[in-house]
Amino acid sequence: MGIIDSRADHGITLQTKDSSYHMAVDGYGYLRHLYYGKRLEPEDLFYLYRNYDRGFSGNPRPAGNDRTYSLDAVCQEFSTSGVGDYRIPALRVMNADGSRIADLRYVSHEIRDGKYALPGLPAVRDTDGDTQTLEVVLRDEPSKLTVRLLYGVFEKKNMITRAVIYENTGDKPIVLEKAGSCCLELPFGNWDLLHFHGRHNRERAPERVPVLHGIQTIGSGRGMSSHQHNPFVILCDRLATEDHGDCYGLMYLYSGSFRAEIEGEPYGSVRAVMSPGDESFRWTLQPGAQFAAPEVLMSRADGLTKLSQQYHKAVRENICRGEYSLAHRPVLINSWEAAYFDISAERILKLAGQAASLGIELFVLDDGWFRGRKDDNAGLGDWEYDPEKLPEGLDHLIAGIRETGMLFGIWVEPEMVNEDSDLYRAHPDWALAAPGRKPARGRNQLVLDLSRVDVQDYIIQFMTNLLTKYDISYIKWDFNRSVADVYSHLLPAEQQGEVAHRGILGLYRVLETLTARFPKVLFEGCAGGGGRFDAGMMYYTPQIWGSDDTDPIERLTIQKGTSFGYPLSMVGAHVSIAPNHQTGRTTPISTRAAVAMTGAFGYELDLSLITAEEQAEIRRQVQEYREDEQLIQRGLYYRLGEDTEGMDAFSWLLVSEEQDQALLTVVATATHGNAPLIHVRFKGLDPAALYELREDDLVRSGAALMNAGYTLPQLTGDYPAFRLHLKRVQNGAGKEE
Ligand code: GLA
Repeated sequence: MGIIDSRADHGITLQTKDSSYHMAVDGYGYLRHLYYGKRLEPEDLFYLYRNYDRGFSGNPRPAGNDRTYSLDAVCQEFSTSGVGDYRIPALRVMNADGSRIADLRYVSHEIRDGKYALPGLPAVRDTDGDTQTLEVVLRDEPSKLTVRLLYGVFEKKNMITRAVIYENTGDKPIVLEKAGSCCLELPFGNWDLLHFHGRHNRERAPERVPVLHGIQTIGSGRGMSSHQHNPFVILCDRLATEDHGDCYGLMYLYSGSFRAEIEGEPYGSVRAVMSPGDESFRWTLQPGAQFAAPEVLMSRADGLTKLSQQYHKAVRENICRGEYSLAHRPVLINSWEAAYFDISAERILKLAGQAASLGIELFVLDDGWFRGRKDDNAGLGDWEYDPEKLPEGLDHLIAGIRETGMLFGIWVEPEMVNEDSDLYRAHPDWALAAPGRKPARGRNQLVLDLSRVDVQDYIIQFMTNLLTKYDISYIKWDFNRSVADVYSHLLPAEQQGEVAHRGILGLYRVLETLTARFPKVLFEGCAGGGGRFDAGMMYYTPQIWGSDDTDPIERLTIQKGTSFGYPLSMVGAHVSIAPNHQTGRTTPISTRAAVAMTGAFGYELDLSLITAEEQAEIRRQVQEYREDEQLIQRGLYYRLGEDTEGMDAFSWLLVSEEQDQALLTVVATATHGNAPLIHVRFKGLDPAALYELREDDLVRSGAALMNAGYTLPQLTGDYPAFRLHLKRVQNGAGKEE
């Protein structure tokens, strides 16, 4: 099982169900990466690598006169800098003497049952009981910087986690200028990089590009994982499709600035390095001190679909926590697009009454409810209800909502402050700002300095008061600007490069404390939509608002991109009004729901503005979502885009693990006269079973549906959606169900 130690060739093999990851110490004491691919039994894999005298790629001292051995040309398990490997380093230091050299050599390793701990950071949990840990110790002897490479092997899930602990075991300070979490080398082949980029209102659009000679960097310097680049990348064979080809994923459990660097190097291999922070990162390790680099979740599969499904399962079962990670999620209505800042008790209670009568289960009072919050110029920091908007108090409003039978949830943005607030007037030094400089505003607000324990404690305190005093079942935790003016008043000049990461550690401490203290509260993450949509946040918030763009046609791309790494069941997705507030587009309410129903479903519109027929439709939709919920939450997700490419349509499929239910959704982004009919092939069904096609009154075998496929009726009108429920009526053994 798990990790195999073959001392004969100094090799260590990490075995999962379908993959093997092999490293070994070579004769010169360097830890070499030898293989990551389809599972094989351990053997000596050094034969793969033939050394040549490579011009201008020098030779390390332990190699003596061997001009064919160069650190610049061999695959490293953990790349370093200053010693003649000129490719991307995972580690860059500044030693006490000013040199930037770290010559990492193998010292020892240890294999343990269970998963290593990573205190203060989100980490994939060992919920499967089959996890093992490998810890490899490397050291730079002159400085005595000790680097502990940690690997968690999740055998059944085909997952390997990686993290690194840096420890100064010397007697002089060492500055970490780059403290990577992992380095992955793919020695042979032609590779594509699939990454997820975007902007506010358009997050996680997939982009597949060839890995070039040179370095491609996916990253963020915004103090948040960002709308622009998601901290998840895939390297796949240039010929890989949804169903075939080598695919590798690197998912960062980190919510701050980050870098994922991918280098196509001169001798044919590809190296990928993930590290926290941007160029401004500097961390001083005093003698005896440690630094933990955040965790990366690595996986391999044949085909993109399988890779995605492996990640979905791991995110759901091993990252998300708490009551809600797999439980029924209440269908919610959110007040934002219904009322924006224009909140009054009367307006909210009216909306709540309407929503409850349609079967909606949770009312979320969004921004605008607290003191001074007439618009986005003021109020952040003063987390008490606004008596002008709610003269009878928040308690009274909540009681009114609870009377309708709905649960109550509320919006907060705890990491921010407006200058026009009592909090800022009392503690101007709590905001990030450098002495003598006026900090940049974003959405008229400043960012609190979460590297400070007093600021963390203030957030824990006000949130505890809010959640203790009021009957609150849900929190929407927002973060509405990129970070700038990174400077903390409590740290000396030489430690300012630590502030951004310390802030993220502070956020994790706050979230850890609150989610432990209030385990029954559902926390939904948010950052102007999906600006902090990462596996680090998912450890605390099992639901994250997908995007501020609620237009279903826009959401198709967002959801597709998201689905490569993250289960859509944890993406907040709402039906909003038409014409849509972001795009002005008008779509049918059935299409809006068909798209949102793949996620954590809800509504966000003024229900007085829709017709009685649309209200009745909402009642049906809520009911249907409840019936399909298990399938949506736990089903295997298939992108069928390769079938509908060029057809102006998006299509996807959910199939239950038991293969007894499936749900096909197709949305047309344009309709044409006399057009070819859309045809899809099902996947993941039991070929020998018979399935009833609910909306088509047909019964067909899994084999026919998967091989011959299914032809849709002609779709007409603006942006039509088609949903088809499949139910197994006879299993493979011919038994009726
Ligand atoms: C962000 C969120 C929105 C809404 C507003 C409120 O933009 O993404 O959903 O909560 O803030 O100000």
